[in-house]
Amino acid sequence: MSRCSGNPDRDRAVWWRAIVAISSTAIVSAVTGVRVAESAAAQRPASARSVARSASKRGPDTLLVSSSEYTGWKYFHVYCYRCHGVDAFGGQLAPDLRRSVSSQGSVTHDVFLTTVKEGRIPKGMPAWSTLLTDDQIEGLYAYVKARSDRRLGSGRPHQAADPPAKKQ
Ligand code: HEC
Repeated sequence: MSRCSGNPDRDRAVWWRAIVAISSTAIVSAVTGVRVAESAAAQRPASARSVARSASKRGPDTLLVSSSEYTGWKYFHVYCYRCHGVDAFGGQLAPDLRRSVSSQGSVTHDVFLTTVKEGRIPKGMPAWSTLLTDDQIEGLYAYVKARSDRRLGSGRPHQAADPPAKKQ
């Protein structure tokens, strides 16, 4: 018996149903294929995934500083850290300088220089003009600003020429 019924309308309807059936099978298998690929990716060995993760974690070198920032870091940890905290986090004795020089604080570049040179003696902030040069105080500002902007991470920074320092 022929599949053709002799009725052109009915024949067209039969062909359409066949085409729809074939194309929906193709869509289902494409979707299933994607799912299989996804679950294969999820089952990749843990080592491959952790390598990918640590590569993206490495990112920019957050301990790389300019020579001015490096000078600032050095003097900060000689003179300032005992009140303002290691890494300029602030402490019980003195404010968090990262906040002071941010948009939330009131310490502009000029206020910073004046405060450091002259101190605020009645409030417990010593004057540093006899111990530090202008360049060193500029370095202190650059260091605190880099910490405040989160461009510089916690720990021991290094300059481009140095080998990367271990975290303290
Ligand atoms: C003996 C403790 C002490 C040491 C050491 C010290 N400070 Fe301070 N500093 C303070 C105190 C206390 C204040 C808060 C003064 C106030 O209330 O206005 C302050 C305030 C400041 C401010 C103003 C902060 C703000 O938000 O108004 C700056 C800037 C500053 N210190 C920088 C330095 C730097 C740089 C050094 C190191 C060279 C240093 N300080 C060392 C005690 C100290």
